[in-house]
Order: sequence, then C-alpha cells, then structure tokens
Amino acid sequence: MSDSGRVDLMAEDTHRRWVVRPPQPAEAPAIRMLLPRRPGAAALPGQYLLALQPGTASIVGAASFSVSPAGSTALRLHVIPPFRRQRVGTALVQAIMRSAPAAGVRGLTGEVHPMSEPDAPHFAEALGFQRLHRLCTMTAPVADLRGQLTALRQRLRQSGRIPAAAQLVMLPEAPQLEIARLFEQWISLEGVGAVPTQALTREASAASPVVMVEGEVAGFLLWQMQGETAIVLAWVVPPRWSNSWVNVALLAEALDIGWAAGARQIEYDVLDGNHQPTKLAQRAGGTVHRIADTYRLDL
Ligand SMILES: CC(C)(COP(=O)(O)OP(=O)(O)OC[C@H]1O[C@@H](n2cnc3c(N)ncnc32)[C@H](O)[C@@H]1OP(=O)(O)O)[C@@H](O)C(=O)NCCC(=O)NCCS
Repeated sequence: MSDSGRVDLMAEDTHRRWVVRPPQPAEAPAIRMLLPRRPGAAALPGQYLLALQPGTASIVGAASFSVSPAGSTALRLHVIPPFRRQRVGTALVQAIMRSAPAAGVRGLTGEVHPMSEPDAPHFAEALGFQRLHRLCTMTAPVADLRGQLTALRQRLRQSGRIPAAAQLVMLPEAPQLEIARLFEQWISLEGVGAVPTQALTREASAASPVVMVEGEVAGFLLWQMQGETAIVLAWVVPPRWSNSWVNVALLAEALDIGWAAGARQIEYDVLDGNHQPTKLAQRAGGTVHRIADTYRLDL
C-alpha cells in the first residue's frame, strides 16, 4: 500500500502470495457459484481466472472478463469472505494486467453495484480505478407518474410546443434501420454495453412508442412487461430532440399503454446528471432501486 492509501499495482508482488491461473474444466461449477449470472445480464464474458491458496486446491476467488474490440474488459471479481482484505482481489487484477498488453487491452472496465456490493467501490478506488458514470434504476408507481405526465403533455400541447408534424407510431411501423442506428449510437454514448439491436427490438413490446417528425425518428422508448412492471429497455432521444417535448410524449404514451396492459410500476435507467427523469420519478414517490457504476483503469 502506498502513502496515499492506494494499492500500487506495479510495486506490489501480491501474485506471489496466491496462485492465479485459468480454471480447469472440473472447476466450472466453482466459477458459476462465485460469479453467478446477474439477473437480466448477458452471459458472463469468456475468460476466467481463479485464485487459490498456494499448495492446495482451495479456491479463494475468481475473476471473469472479456476483451472487447475497444480493448477493454468487462471485469467481475469475487473473493470468498474469509479471504477478503488479503490481496486476493489485487492479485486477480494484477494477473489480468500482466496479460493485458499482449491481448491489446488498454484499460480495464467493470461494473460495480454499490448497493449490493458495498466493498467494491473502495476496492476499485484503492486500485486506482476511476468512476466513468453512474446508471440509476428508478422504480415508480405508474398511476402517480402517469398523472404527472398527462398534465405535462397537456400543457405542452396547449402551449403549441408539440409541432403539428409530430406523429406517434408503434415500433413495428417505425423505420427499423433508423431505430437500429440511433440505438447503436445510444449504447456507445451511454456505455450501456453491447446489446444487439435485433435482440432488443425482439424483446420489446410491439406497443413501444416512437415519435416521428417529418419522416425522421425523434425518439423511441422500448419496454417490456414483467409481471406488473413495465421495464424500459431503451429510452433514446437523439441530441437534436433531447431536452424537448419528445421525452414527455414518449413516457406519457408508454405509461398510458402500460397502464392499460396492467403495469402498476415502471422501471427505467437514468444516467448521471440527467435530472428530469429522476425528478419525475421522485415526485411520483419513486425510488432508486439499483445503482450501477462503471469504473475504468487505464493501463
Ligand atoms: C471487492 C472484492 C473483490 C475485494 O477483494 P479483496 O481481496 O478483499 O481486496 P484486496 O484485499 O485486494 O484489497 C485491496 C485494497 O482495496 C481496498 N478495500 C478492499 N475492500 C475494502 C473494504 N471493504 N473497505 C475499504 N477498503 C477496501 C483496501 O484499500 C485494500 O487494501 P488494505 O486491505 O491494505 O486496506 C471483495 O470484497 C468481494 O469479492 N466482494 C464481493 C463481490 C464484489 O463486490 N465484487 C466486485 C464487483 S464485480
């Protein structure tokens, strides 16, 4: 540990205290136990490392990561509780760093859920990772939120701010290529991670609203029903239309449709600093249900 309270990844020779190696086929169940798939997450990335006590077959920690075209890795770690604060996590990160340059990796990225993994932000910061952004998942009651949005939409209509040329269509009638293009841009901007557009549009309700203005897509909101919850999969408004009536029109429409379909709660993600959707949910009695922080360590 350096004077600054930081772990000096270059100076530490932690890897000598633990054996770090790829798993053998018989160790696959241990990997699944230590790094279970997060609900709703894509399959785990493809590369794994295990940490073991030297001279034994005792597994004390595991890491998973993938090398993306951008040269970074979606890092996940788990150290079993009795072995925490003994540099097992550090040893796993160091092992990935040692192989990184050969694999073309320029930085390590990982998602941390501070509400369910309270140790992780401290660990990430001690190793010099920086927080890139925070995604908060808000949950709000549809009835209250819909009341607010209906009133807002009414005011926008009365003040003439919704142009006469604006049209609301449902996803299947919208230009699919344009939706795919905007979606790809959105995932790269928001750092949401690669979700194939086709998979997403297949999962989304056919009653997902799209706002069109003079033949151009001004925004769309893809959602799906899970029980009594409308889950927003993507809420995309290109920069030209952000901070405008489009957001209100999309959410108001989705709430109307969701309510008619039996949705009593809505869940949507809000990126750091995007105050409007956060305030809307909070005013309707909504709460932050999950926080996902993206951290990066440049190599
Ligand atoms: C986060 C985690 C991987 C850390 O592993 P670890 O082996 O305990 O971490 P290390 O011993 O290498 O810690 C290195 C430094 O990180 C910091 N750190 C780690 N855990 C910390 C905690 N709970 N509180 C404060 N600082 C902490 C410290 O600075 C520590 O050095 P120190 O012990 O000399 O003070 C482990 O706590 C864990 O598996 N948690 C549950 C799963 C999880 O959160 N995974 C990460 C998200 S994918």
